[in-house]
Parts: sequence; C-alpha cells; structure tokens
Amino acid sequence: MSIQAIKGVKDILPQDMPVWQYLEATARKLFEDYGFTEIRVPVFEYTELFARSIGASTDIVEKEMYTFEDRDGRKITLRPEGTAGVVRAFIEHKLYADAQLTKLYYLGPMFRHERPQKGRYRQFYQIGVEALGLDHPHVDIEVLAMLHTLFTRLGIGGLSLQINSLGDGECRGAYRDALKQYLSAKLPTLCADCQRRYETNPLRVLDCKVDADKFTDSPVMLDYLCDPCKSHFETVEQGLRTLGIPFEVNKRLVRGLDYYTRTTFELVMGHMGAQNTVAAGGRYDGLVKEIGGPATPGIGFALGVERAISLMDTRNVVFPRPALFIAALGPDAVALALPLVHHLKSSGIPVETDYTGASLKSQMKKADKSGAGHTLIIGEQEMKSGIAVLRNMQTKEQAEIAMKNIEEELKKRTMRPS
Ligand code: HAM
Repeated sequence: MSIQAIKGVKDILPQDMPVWQYLEATARKLFEDYGFTEIRVPVFEYTELFARSIGASTDIVEKEMYTFEDRDGRKITLRPEGTAGVVRAFIEHKLYADAQLTKLYYLGPMFRHERPQKGRYRQFYQIGVEALGLDHPHVDIEVLAMLHTLFTRLGIGGLSLQINSLGDGECRGAYRDALKQYLSAKLPTLCADCQRRYETNPLRVLDCKVDADKFTDSPVMLDYLCDPCKSHFETVEQGLRTLGIPFEVNKRLVRGLDYYTRTTFELVMGHMGAQNTVAAGGRYDGLVKEIGGPATPGIGFALGVERAISLMDTRNVVFPRPALFIAALGPDAVALALPLVHHLKSSGIPVETDYTGASLKSQMKKADKSGAGHTLIIGEQEMKSGIAVLRNMQTKEQAEIAMKNIEEELKKRTMRPS
C-alpha cells in the first residue's frame, strides 16, 4: 500500500492556496498598518520552554505535545502554539531594548496531538500577534480592534467576541481559595485529572474536557478582581464601546493555557460545534519574567487559519490564471512558440502552452480549462504570414494580429474596461 499522510494532518493543495494567500496577505497588510513586524521562530524548542510558559498541568503540556529526545539526548517539542517561542526570542535577542512596545506577528504550523475531527488537526496553522512592553488597557483595546477589523476584512460575520478578566497575582489567590472551597464538595465525583489538578492548579479544573459542565455555578474571577484589575477591565470594556466593537462579557471564559492574566478573549462562531473558537488570546503580564526575562507585560492572540478559512467569504479572492494560452498546431509551430513563450513569461506575462502540437480542438479545450483570458492560435499558415488569430476566451471575439505585436495587443485588450 502506498504511504499516506499522518492522521490529523492535511495537505494544502494548489487549488486551496489562493484563499490561504489571500488570508495571509490580508492579515499581513493589516498588522503592518498597525505597526507590527513579522518574526519567524523555530518550529521546535526545548520542551521546558512550553512546560514553563503554557503550564505543566495544562492539557496541552500533559497530553498533547509532540515531544521527543533528539540525538543529543535533549528533550525537544514541536511547538503547540506561538507565544512561548516569540517570548523566548524577545528575551534572547533583547528586543525589549528597541522600543517601549514591541509589536510582532507570526504565522506558521503548530502541532498538538488532539483527537482529529473537522476543524481540529494535529498540524494546524496559526496567525498570531504579540505586543510586549506595556500594560496600558488601550493596548488591549487596540489588539482587539485589530482582530475585529481582520475578521471584517475577511468577510467573516456572525462571530461573537467574548471577553473576561483572569486577574493577576494580587487577586488570583483569593479566587483560587474560593474555587477550591467550591470544588471540594464535588471532588469525589470528578475525573482523575480534576482531582489531581484540584491540588496543583485548581483553575485548570474549570477547563476540564470531561467535567466542565458541572461547574456552571462556580465562583467567577470577575467577582474577585482587585481594584487595578477591575479598573483595567472596565477601561477595556469602555474602549470597545467607544470604538463600536461588539462584545460579550463571558464570566466563565477560561483559557487552556496558564500564562494569562487580566484581559482574555475568544472569537467564537455559534454554529461550528466544539471547534467553534476561531481566534483567541489575552494578556500575559507575568510570562516574560517567568521564562527568565525582565518583568514585561504582554498581550496577543492567534487565529486558527483552517477555521477562519472555513468561514471566509472567498468572493474577493483572485484565483491566478494565465493571460494567454498559445495553441501551437504541429511541431513547427511548437518550435516557433518556444522563444515567444519564454519572452512573454520573462516579461511578466503569465502564459500557458501545449507542448504537444495537438489538434486545434484538443488545445482549445486545454485553453478553456487553463482559464486563460486569450488564446493565440499558431498554425502553418500563421507561421508563414506572421499573422495569427487572437481569441478572447470570454467573448469569443477573434482578431488577426501580427505575432510580433502580441504584447501590446494583449495589453490593449486586458486594459480595456470590461
Ligand atoms: P489557543 O486558544 O490555544 O491560543 O489557540 C488559538 C487558536 O488556534 C484557536 O482559537 C483555534 O482557532 C486554533 N487551534 C487551536 N488548536 C487547534 C487544532 N488542533 N486544530 C485547528 N485549530 C486549532 C494560543 O495558541 C495562544 N498562543 C494565543 C495567544 C497569542 N495568546 C496570546 N498570544
């Protein structure tokens, strides 16, 4: 049997690429307009980086990472998300020295060993941003506004932006105690993971894939926020209202990664089932310090590219097609076409041809299939006279043109308003 791709991993085929490229170009343009610059970090890092940043008792770290020992005996992990690597690079290259606010974006594959299903893959793509250096709530608002604009530009409507605050080191302790007290009565009925996490990291219990439904009346972080966290959250809410960005406060929004503080959010699509979160993120004011850098606040988000694409309005996507198809009839015409095709291609005009010199009928079929705007037909007669037929594939109009003028003739016709 032939070898197949690994389960949960998808090929992105040539016919899919225009939509991918459109999404990527739209994101790049927007992020760069907002002053973000691209960073590319490795797809693998020392395992310890992810354990320390995402959190040792999260599902991602405990159950989903692709971890292996390399030939030097070091524990290596394929990145399950982008934030940890970007923050590592931020510290390693002292990017904090360059600006008050370092604004970075990235795109690329991430790897999680989750149960594959529609919208959930083991290799998937994220496009993400991280803004490091300031904890001002206006940075949160700007990042959320950028996310909102991105989805508007992609023609994806019907999403709900859900926001919450997870507090900070000051107020988390009191909430943790209240949560433990609440959970203690339920403890015997909870899964083994929850029982263990109750001790090590009780906030993670709320995120349990098995038991999450049992906690609909649990205490919520919003009721325990300290004054600075409360005021931060209120400013974010107010700012979103000022900018006319619709949102809902979801008091029960918990994220599957431990590094979050204060503002957290998800962009959710109602009808997508379990895999309904298209983008998500939040603030992580303790992370840079946690992994060895100077205390530096940060905020960011990542969107799932496959999920965004499944919702995208593809009307604005331009599918590339050749400007010209050259139908060369017979071996002599094929020989004549060679320098012409080369000349046009090297001058930036996309040209397709049939190398076989087959019949006019079969070549016109190929020309049609190629989606070319025009077809130039070169037969024996045309070779002698230097005059060939140029056919507009849409209107079926034909004109006799001097082959040496093909470039101008094409330009004239393609620039004409249709
Ligand atoms: P996350 O919520 O784990 O956050 O992932 C972000 C997005 O990646 C999800 O909302 C989803 O669209 C997509 N995604 C996650 N797992 C899969 C999967 N198995 N298959 C397909 N798509 C998936 C983070 O990764 C954070 N690093 C986001 C962030 C950036 N926070 C701050 N800065």
